[in-house]
Amino acid sequence: MKKMFLVLLFAVFVVPNVFAAQTVDTIMNRKSVRSYERGKISQQDLDVILKAAMAAPSAMNVQPWAFVVVDDYKTIDLLASKLPYAKMLKEASIAIIVCGKSDDKNFWIMDCSAASENILLAVEDLGLGAVWTAVYPDKERIDAVRTLFSIPEEFIPLNVIPVGKPKGETKPKDKYDAGKIHVNKW
Ligand SMILES: Cc1cc2nc3c(=O)[nH]c(=O)nc-3n(C[C@H](O)[C@H](O)[C@H](O)COP(=O)(O)O)c2cc1C
Repeated sequence: MKKMFLVLLFAVFVVPNVFAAQTVDTIMNRKSVRSYERGKISQQDLDVILKAAMAAPSAMNVQPWAFVVVDDYKTIDLLASKLPYAKMLKEASIAIIVCGKSDDKNFWIMDCSAASENILLAVEDLGLGAVWTAVYPDKERIDAVRTLFSIPEEFIPLNVIPVGKPKGETKPKDKYDAGKIHVNKW
């Protein structure tokens, strides 16, 4: 009976705290990784990444996102040639293009940014590396990505996220700045 009680205490109080700590650890450990070793990303890992993306919050729960997963190295290399700040794609195992269905109030940008951050966090959690590379709002880059992947007119590519097995070690930056916090009044 006493043993049961202890197990119950553990399940109710300790287990949730362990998970909470893991989530914050993942957030604090996330960093932009720009160097990878090419190799297959398992379907299981990819599913985790895409499920995390679609678990993001969404204004009025519209979920305006769509994802183009590119695993063909030739196409990834071609994509790298079109994006000036995404040359690391040439080492990536996959690229995920986060697209949003445009709307009057630009909620798609916020929703797809939340989905993108979830992708980066899932990647970190899986021991993989990734970086957000910008497509939107640069018209030239949007047009290039749209053409390459036949993205329909109502969708806009927000970013391209290369994912791969990290080469070397990248440390997370400490960006905490108490000066950016205002309490009760600015
Ligand atoms: C909207 C946005 C656009 C970005 N565009 C690029 C990019 O085109 N190429 C790149 O290498 N990194 C890009 N980054 C990654 C940032 O450079 C990176 O997040 C920043 O330097 C902070 O480093 P950290 O992610 O390691 O904390 C982008 C990040 C955001 C949020």
